[in-house]
Parts: sequence; C-alpha cells; structure tokens
Amino acid sequence: MENHVSHVTTTAEQPSNEARLGILELANMISVPMSLNAVVRLNVPDAIWQGGSNSPLSASAILSHVLPDGGGDAENLQRILRMLTSYGVFAEHLVSADDDGGSHQRKFSLTEIGKTLVTDQNGLSYGPYILQHHQDVLMGAWPMVHEAVVDPTIEPFVKVNGEPAYEYYGKKPEMNGLMQRAMSGVSVPFMKAILDGYDGFEGVGRLVDVGGSAGDCLRMILQKHPSVREGINFDLPEVVAKAPTIAGVSHVGGDMFKSIPSGDAIFMKWVLSTWTDSECKLIMENCYKALPVGGKLIACEPVLPTKSDDSPRTRALLENDIFVMTIYRAKGKNRTEDELRQLGLSAGFSHFKPIYIDYFYTVLEFQK
Ligand SMILES: C[S@@+](CC[C@H](N)C(=O)[O-])C[C@H]1O[C@@H](n2cnc3c(N)ncnc32)[C@H](O)[C@@H]1O
Repeated sequence: MENHVSHVTTTAEQPSNEARLGILELANMISVPMSLNAVVRLNVPDAIWQGGSNSPLSASAILSHVLPDGGGDAENLQRILRMLTSYGVFAEHLVSADDDGGSHQRKFSLTEIGKTLVTDQNGLSYGPYILQHHQDVLMGAWPMVHEAVVDPTIEPFVKVNGEPAYEYYGKKPEMNGLMQRAMSGVSVPFMKAILDGYDGFEGVGRLVDVGGSAGDCLRMILQKHPSVREGINFDLPEVVAKAPTIAGVSHVGGDMFKSIPSGDAIFMKWVLSTWTDSECKLIMENCYKALPVGGKLIACEPVLPTKSDDSPRTRALLENDIFVMTIYRAKGKNRTEDELRQLGLSAGFSHFKPIYIDYFYTVLEFQK
C-alpha cells in the first residue's frame, strides 16, 4: 500500500517524458498559425509554385522571389519553413552540398496542404482565410478566451473591440473585402467537391443563399444545374453592395433575423454555427416561412462527433468551435448531428437528413 501511494506521488511530481514534451508542444503552438500567417504574407507558396513547377527551392532562392529588391534573412525564413514542414505544409529536401556528402542544403516544395495556399487563376486560395483570422482586431480577442467561461453574455471580440465582429467588419471596407475573399477561397473548393456528389438541387427553380457573401456558391450551383433559373444571394446590405455581378443571380441585402426572401429551396453555408440556439431557431423559422411545403433548407455546417478524439477532423472542428466562441458568439457553436436535428424540429422542419461528403462541412437537409 505504501509503495502504491509513493508511486502515485512520484508520478504526479515527475511528469513522463511524453507529458513533458506534449505540454511544451502545446505551450508553443502559437508558432504554427503565426508562421502560417507569415508565409502567406510573404507569398511564399506562390514563390515555390512558380506556375506549377513546385521545384524544391532553398530559403534564399524563395527569398529572392518574395523580396525581389533584395534583403531579408534567409535563415529566419528557413526556420519558419522547417517548423511548417513538421506540420505537413512544406516538404523538405536535403540536397548534398559537397562531393563527399558532408554538408546539406535544405530545399522546400509544397505538399498537398501547402498547395491550398497557392493563388489560382481566379485569384483565390486559402491564404485570405488565414490572413482574415490573424488580423490585429481578431488577435486582440484571443487572450480573453477565459472570459467566455466567466461571462458568456459578451464575446471576447466584443470585450476588446466594443462591438460584434460583423458590425465591426461592416464599417471597414478592407475587412469586409478580406472576409469575402476568405469565404470565397474556402467555399469554392468545397462547392466543387459537393456538386460532384450531391443531387439535392435537382428540380429547384429559385434558390436563395442565406449569408451568401460574394455569391460564389450560387454561381457554382447555377453553372452545374441550369434548371436553377434564379439565384438570390441574400446577405447584409454592406456585404452584397460589394458582391460582383453574376449571371442569373440577384444580390439582396437584408437581415436574416427579420425575414428571408422566398424560394423553392434555401441554401445556407456556414451560418448556423455562428449563432446561439435561439438565434438559429429564429433564422430557421424564417427559412421555414420562405419555403413551400416540401421545400428544403440545405445547410452546410461543421458537425461535431459525439465523442472527442485526436483525429485531424475532430481537431479542425473543435478548433473552429473555439474560434466561433471567441470571435462571433460566445454561445454560438459547432453542433452535433443530434443537436442540429433538434434545432430543425424546433423550427418546424419535419425531416432531417445529414449527408457526409466533405470532412469539414456536412450537408444537412431540413425538409418542410
Ligand atoms: C461565415 S460567413 C459564410 C459565407 C458563405 N455562406 C460561405 O460559406 O462562403 C457568414 C455570412 O453570414 C452573413 N451574415 C451575418 N449576419 C447576417 C444577417 N443578419 N443577415 C444576413 N446575413 C448575415 C455574413 O455577412 C457572412 O457573409
């Protein structure tokens, strides 16, 4: 018995090697997103990609592309690239620098994850999403995460900046613009993936996208399904004012908490997780009113697994959940399938069907 007690005491006082390493990894984790932000700001992915070559380049070669007028510190860039290599953003190539193989030069190419940061022919990538998340006004909210526990009636973002995030963005055209580019960069690849595997837009003539931002989702749906004759891109007035002209799509400004334009079906991507249960119920009730009997609300949302685990999917969904809590709504959240089903029922929808195609967003059909 004595031995047992002393064993427990020793374990508590002396963490294992794994525990010592694990906690130090977590304590230094801020280096990961901030370094990602740095390589996006420096345009490193485009410099390596070079129109598709993706040939391994040394840090000094990358530097000469991103700072063509010279200067910069190649060693510090290499430190950032090595760290992000350990997170799968870059691939490292050790090239022998002398004949006897004694010294090596490090070169870096883009992995599949790294390629998501390359600007495509439409000017899109996941880069603006990373920049959007790490703007000073959002960063200022992060030291206040614990406040969401102490007082959930006010968001850390509001505590620091004095007003809710969307109101704040609305007054700053450059923040609104970055938000739209961020959403487009994330939504276009997702839409390409689901439009290949999901047939729920068949037979819909007039489709409303609630919180549709720049209208990319509607543009892609209309291109894939010519039977959708009319798209209504519904978002805040200051957001639709900046949306580009899209054939077949009308941009309508308004407030989804007040009313939503009517349609044969409603599409709504990445909106519900931003809001509290009662706010979601109100949005969904307004969707219900805007639909004919049998009409569908097609929502795309992160859906949490019931049990927590350390898989990349669960981590990405739970990390995004804390982002929502900190920036948008202290009681807005990513929800489980069952919580979403219950929300739909509470708003009047009689049928619910989740469709898992993309790892991050699940397609959720709520039928009237
Ligand atoms: C996370 S973004 C998603 C954008 C787009 N659906 C996508 O996934 O690319 C949420 C959207 O909801 C819009 N939004 C916020 N409050 C709104 C309101 N009260 N009425 C209508 N749209 C709103 C925002 O302007 C933003 O475009």
